[in-house]
Amino acid sequence: MSNLLTEINGSTQIITINRPDKLNALNRATIKELSEAVTAAGNNDAIKAIIITGSGEKAFVAGADISEFNTYSKEEAHDLAKNGQDILFDLVERSSKPVIAAVNGFALGGGLELAMSCHIRVASSNARMGLPEVSLGVIPGYGGTQRLAQLAGKGKAFELIFTAGMIKATEAEQCGLVNYVVEQEELINKCLEICEKMSKNSSVAIAAAIRAVNSGYTDGENGFETEINEFANCFATGDFKERTTAFLEKRKANFPNN
Ligand code: COA
Repeated sequence: MSNLLTEINGSTQIITINRPDKLNALNRATIKELSEAVTAAGNNDAIKAIIITGSGEKAFVAGADISEFNTYSKEEAHDLAKNGQDILFDLVERSSKPVIAAVNGFALGGGLELAMSCHIRVASSNARMGLPEVSLGVIPGYGGTQRLAQLAGKGKAFELIFTAGMIKATEAEQCGLVNYVVEQEELINKCLEICEKMSKNSSVAIAAAIRAVNSGYTDGENGFETEINEFANCFATGDFKERTTAFLEKRKANFPNN
């Protein structure tokens, strides 16, 4: 049985995690299905952006499914974190198409980690976010220690992780963890509005920008150098030629996207 609902709205793929009775907790099956759904959207030329959200009004994702891993050995725990990071969290961050997290309620542990691996986060006003792992005797394992520090700063990351506390959506917005806070009924529309704006722009240039920004956060890579190379590569695309020529000729561009 699938743990996801998928829907296409215009050129946006909406993926809804659908385990509301477990507050959309991420079990292994859901992680695998999410990985497959994000990969499929990435391979679909008709899709320009992806929204990930949770079903119901209470939770985006209330964390990794605790019932699955509480008996794990050290080796099994290592594989769990490594596999999850490889097949989902890093995959989302490196998606060539923008991924927006529509945070519709609790985003805790692996839920916040999933939201943080997305490129943009929009939260509903009822959302609550946190990394409660140390209250369970463990630390975040799906990139939370790294991405929270990148997004909200090291001091805020330490505080949130050490206290295992939850912050409200408005506080998350103040510390840079989310881009916008809107009422729950406006959440998907706000995300679609951002997708609509992005869809007017060059998909190949957006993909290059994702690689350049990510490069600065990747061990062994120099983000400035990646930027120079990606900048130069854009000049060899039909998109760049058509869009700059159209600007100079004061006409609307055709969109070759190649
Ligand atoms: N893993 C597995 N099951 C989870 C879960 C998780 N991370 N989060 C919630 N659930 C399940 C509950 O066990 C419960 O299942 P049940 O009805 O079969 O007993 C159901 O979802 C509803 O959760 P419940 O705790 O009854 O809701 P609540 O409104 O009282 O509390 C939370 C909501 C989010 C505060 C609470 O569920 C919670 O603390 N969850 C765990 C958060 C966490 O530690 N995440 C990090 C994991 S590493």
